[in-house]
Amino acid sequence: MIKPNELAEIELGVVGLGLMGSSIVVALLIAGHPVRGVAPIPSDMKDAELRITKQLKHAEESGILNQPISQYLSRLMLSEDFGILRDCRLVQECVVERTEIKGLMYRKIAEATRGKAIVSSNTSAIPISVLQDLVPNPERFLGVHWAEPAYLTRFLEITKGAKTAEEPAKWVFELAHYWDKEPTFLQKDIRGFVTNRLMYAVYREAFHLIDRKEATVEDVDKSFRYDAGSWITAMGLMKRMDLLGLADFRVALSRLFPELSNSTEVPELMKQMVEKEARGIQNARGLYAYTEQEAEEWEKAFAAFNKEIYRLAAEHPSAPTEK
Ligand SMILES: NC(=O)c1ccc[n+]([C@@H]2O[C@H](COP(=O)([O-])OP(=O)(O)OC[C@H]3O[C@@H](n4cnc5c(N)ncnc54)[C@H](O)[C@@H]3O)[C@@H](O)[C@H]2O)c1
Repeated sequence: MIKPNELAEIELGVVGLGLMGSSIVVALLIAGHPVRGVAPIPSDMKDAELRITKQLKHAEESGILNQPISQYLSRLMLSEDFGILRDCRLVQECVVERTEIKGLMYRKIAEATRGKAIVSSNTSAIPISVLQDLVPNPERFLGVHWAEPAYLTRFLEITKGAKTAEEPAKWVFELAHYWDKEPTFLQKDIRGFVTNRLMYAVYREAFHLIDRKEATVEDVDKSFRYDAGSWITAMGLMKRMDLLGLADFRVALSRLFPELSNSTEVPELMKQMVEKEARGIQNARGLYAYTEQEAEEWEKAFAAFNKEIYRLAAEHPSAPTEK
């Protein structure tokens, strides 16, 4: 059993300090750990400190800090040198989604920690068992998949690969509860884990309706937002079925399943977007039209929303049976 007063002794590392890496650093600092952040490319070293300080300010405005920002920063060490990971119990890799780059990082982490640390990857789509073949100690390697912003979301997917031992995975699962997460613990490495499989099933049907001109982009968004959006923070999909009564779902499933798309092709609209080099709000070109200023405002609005939804979820805890 990990005790709360031990967190300050459990040193953790993060390798890769881009968007998610820096946000994970903030989540771990807030939990009370000393954190070692490694910058594998020079631009990380230039930008990470400012990005982390900005995210800590966002966390402060969201009411989740109980110490001054300087106190959290005093427990952080950033460097390009992997040697600072020497005493870390767990090192979270968070670099670009490229297998060969992740593999290179694992070799450097293993050298710095003398193979003693547990290593986790934030990969969204590369199977854990594939990455596991690139590490010297596969029994201490697993998937720990965060959602952005890592310090203000309760989601965390912990996934064992084919060679991951039970004990280190359980240790990370237990520790994650101190990071204010509601972690899932997947015994089996399935592509896309759970959350991406669920979301991409919805995306497939959304694109199917749009490509066949049966609904517009706006229709799809409005339906999803105002239907799922009105209950999804309070309960999961399965609990909702229980709440509404299962019999009607049985009829609906038997009628609707044969009608839904089971296409394995990339949707036409998505191909067009990629051809136009549309990157959504990153370059103000996407499924909607934006000016650059509107794109910036969307980012700010989402940061404010994150704070509200985090608070709301805490005010409506899950029923005891879900635990
Ligand atoms: N962005 C999200 O919402 C999100 C959510 C879940 C998982 N992830 C996963 O997290 C990981 C990182 O994503 P991100 O959004 O932080 O990306 P990012 O583009 O913001 O950061 C990528 C980081 O990768 C590292 N990197 C880039 N090129 C490198 C190189 N040549 N050699 C070594 N390191 C290099 C750098 O640290 C860089 O900051 C990916 O595996 C991604 O799939 C991202």
